[in-house]
Amino acid sequence: MQAIDCPFGFSKALDFDPTLAGFMERDSLGTIRLPYGESDAWLVTSFESVQQVTTDPRFSRAEIIEYDYPRLTAEPIVSPESINVMDPPHSSRIRHLATQAFTPRQVDRMRGRIGLLTDRLLDEMEDAGQPADLVRYLSDPLPQHTILDLLGIDRAEWPRMQEQVQRLLVVGAGNRDVARAAKEDLTGYFTGLVAERRKNPGTDIISVLTEARDGTDQLDDRELAVLALTFTLSGQDTATCQISDIVYLLLTRPKLAEYARAHRKDLTDFIHELLRYIPFRKGVGIPRVALEDVEMDGVVIRQGDFVHVSYLTANRDPDRYPDPHEIVPDRPVAPHMTFGWGGHRCIAVPLAMAELEVALERLLDRFPTLRLAVRPDEVRWDTETIRRFPLELPVAW
Ligand code: HEM
Repeated sequence: MQAIDCPFGFSKALDFDPTLAGFMERDSLGTIRLPYGESDAWLVTSFESVQQVTTDPRFSRAEIIEYDYPRLTAEPIVSPESINVMDPPHSSRIRHLATQAFTPRQVDRMRGRIGLLTDRLLDEMEDAGQPADLVRYLSDPLPQHTILDLLGIDRAEWPRMQEQVQRLLVVGAGNRDVARAAKEDLTGYFTGLVAERRKNPGTDIISVLTEARDGTDQLDDRELAVLALTFTLSGQDTATCQISDIVYLLLTRPKLAEYARAHRKDLTDFIHELLRYIPFRKGVGIPRVALEDVEMDGVVIRQGDFVHVSYLTANRDPDRYPDPHEIVPDRPVAPHMTFGWGGHRCIAVPLAMAELEVALERLLDRFPTLRLAVRPDEVRWDTETIRRFPLELPVAW
């Protein structure tokens, strides 16, 4: 079968990409061609096959850094030393130590900070008067402020950090050198910060991780700096895009907003159902490479072949979720793949969920009559990056 071009470039509100829908209906396995990298890649679409690829050690992340692997951006977003491209036992070791930053006790403390940051942003939105752009006042800044605040970074440094992160995330060949310089600048900055926190620890994530232990094992300075950079990169646009997409759904489907207000104690499960539904990216993430021939769904994936998984199609697998293309607010809980799966599942899920919950709770509490100030078809959607999100959400209350 001929390879399909990816990113799929589809950005019509939160409609599911028809190319991807056709792909998953035909096969649970096909091939895609990405703008950068040396070859085509497999795309695995069903829940079960994605589960297999993400948990089977014959598919390696670490090995891809040896190659010009198929990807969406000119410069790979992740550094070769980043956790995203490690295999066990290295990845398990770092993950075990790093998740000590997201224990229930730590996340409770973070929830308090997120509440303060959210209130401050919503105060500014209220002061600016209506209509106000909710992306500008809430979804854009909150995840940035949250991660920078939790890493204990001085407010004066925030604009520079935000600028560098944006430089890293833009798709396009012309961006390669800019992205590389931004990555170096950020790594250097975090290296200095780690040294400082070892001397003067506080309550921030970096300080907490200087104390993280597994027996006698600890993270060294370089590992800590790379982790801090990884958190900064991973924790911003993902959450921004989800806050905007969730709010867009609530503002354009009043029944969902009604449900959220009437079922506050079920808010977490409801958010999970929205996360399952939201097609939050235009393509794929980081691939794996097959270390040996592997047979899957009647096809042989050859040693050296690159394999991408689609968490988006897995989330719409009819064998797993009845009526997969519907939002069913009280759907019986069945874990979704929006945070990934297996050995590289998001390590900050408790923090990500705390952000989404606090943002939504505060919005529902403070703006009981929140509504879209334009027609839904007037909302403009991003076409420049690898994610899917509204550029603006003009709201009134
Ligand atoms: C709603 C917000 C978020 C979503 C939807 C999300 C989603 C994801 C996804 C899909 C992956 C990749 C799985 C894979 O490689 O296959 C991932 C990995 C990761 N995420 Fe998140 N994430 C969110 C928020 C965050 C935040 C706030 C942080 C940090 C502060 C974070 C840190 C990470 C890290 C470090 C990884 C790499 C894990 C690994 O490769 O072992 N994420 N996330």
